[in-house]
Amino acid sequence: MARARITLDPDFTLGPVPKRLFGSFVEHMGRCVYTGIYEPGHPEADEHGLRRDVLELTKELGVTVVRYPGGNFVSGYNWEDGVGPVEQRPRRLDGAWHSLETNQFGLHEFVEWAWLADVEVMEAVNLGTRGVEEARALLEYANHPGGTQRSDWRRSNGAEEPFDIRLWCLGNEMDGPWQIGFKTADEYGRLAAETARAMRMVDPDLELVACGSSNLSMPTFGAWETTVLQHTYELVDYISLHVYYSDQDGDVESFLASAVDMDRFIEGVVATADAVRARGHHAKQIDLSFDEWNVTYRRDQEVEPLTEPAATRSWDEHPPIGEGDFDVTEAVVVGTMLNSLLRHGDRVKIANQAQLVNLLGLIRTVEGGPAWRQTIFFPFAAMAGAARGEILRAAVTSDRSSSARYGEADVVDVAATFDQENGSVSLFLANRGLNDSADVSVVLRGLRAEGVASARVLTVPEGGDRFSANTAEAQPVGLVDLDGVQLEEQNLTLTLPALSWAAVTVDVAPA
Ligand code: AHR
Repeated sequence: MARARITLDPDFTLGPVPKRLFGSFVEHMGRCVYTGIYEPGHPEADEHGLRRDVLELTKELGVTVVRYPGGNFVSGYNWEDGVGPVEQRPRRLDGAWHSLETNQFGLHEFVEWAWLADVEVMEAVNLGTRGVEEARALLEYANHPGGTQRSDWRRSNGAEEPFDIRLWCLGNEMDGPWQIGFKTADEYGRLAAETARAMRMVDPDLELVACGSSNLSMPTFGAWETTVLQHTYELVDYISLHVYYSDQDGDVESFLASAVDMDRFIEGVVATADAVRARGHHAKQIDLSFDEWNVTYRRDQEVEPLTEPAATRSWDEHPPIGEGDFDVTEAVVVGTMLNSLLRHGDRVKIANQAQLVNLLGLIRTVEGGPAWRQTIFFPFAAMAGAARGEILRAAVTSDRSSSARYGEADVVDVAATFDQENGSVSLFLANRGLNDSADVSVVLRGLRAEGVASARVLTVPEGGDRFSANTAEAQPVGLVDLDGVQLEEQNLTLTLPALSWAAVTVDVAPA
């Protein structure tokens, strides 16, 4: 049995929970768009071909912002191909994913979907094959009310009102040799600065994200961020981070400690951005946009790989790449990654789980068939629903575990929020232990606890094991009631089952 003691105090806060922390990502990749969110002719499709079942699940998730249209895809994309009469739109080769892009779905369809899903649009511009002029044109097309050739083109394409997209990504993973048109840090930094400057001439109040390193293991990590921010510091608002963890090598202890690495990654980028701030005598602060994060599937699953030599695959429309069944272990790791993001919500202001549907998806679909919730759906939905108000600085003393890749980790991983307006404290707790449950005691200092409003846990289902997953046929993994949560005055005690992630909300009044 592991043990942890947590103290929460409403005076010790990090700042408000950023609304955009619960973002996701829709890329023209695999079956995320086609037969994912969009499938004309599906029994659940609306008059625009948008799948209502997927829309409903997106709302249930509590997703707040969605990045679009890529990803690697955007670096070879002409946004103009995806607007105008659908029957006139060109079919193109998408080199990023060796796929045939029909362009039946484009900007207007995505904005319509986002509106129905009640999510904000986070639009990426192509800085791989294109640049300043394309970004300016897209911005004018999307956001200018009318009276110019581009804005009137939007209106003639059926959108009288501007889309008013506020949040823009300046390219995607521009340091990666796999990226169409990848660049050195100086080349990208200059281009991002020029693009940002031109976009701000159209609208000074946009929020702009510059590309950070594609991942922590890039050889130029740190140096890339420094150079890019030296070029762009006063012109952008955020620097991006991307990460995908997996237990591909079978080292599950390390996999379960992934969020320790995520904590360090975030803190490293904060330190780097702040160092550029200090050297440049800048008053403003650059925040972080963790605009791709997730786990990937275990090695033993037969998943069509994201990338493979182009010659081995034919040019197909929406090939089912990167689809698999997430299991209990992966859901617990996703829960700890959410905890890490929330713990750093003072600097991570945007986060996009990648991706929403099918490919590494929170949601899976069958073409012509059902849609269902993957295991990783549940921690996302639970935290997006309960994390309100202020982020609490939790003081945690936990038993520790060790892992080959990331060193020591708390067995019990914690994040917490305090919603003064509605009088509640929410705790998000993971037990990384594979075999032992964990006894947790929480002191709610300075608060008058009135009762446990809800306590739900995701863990190994009865009769299952840590590899249990949800499929089209059966969905045994989800949140169940966490029994045995005790509240005595300011003291909350509970036991987390082995390998679990829980969300517990307590009603409180100021003491
Ligand atoms: O999310 C899948 C891909 O992973 C994205 O297109 C790319 O940006 C990242 O490498």
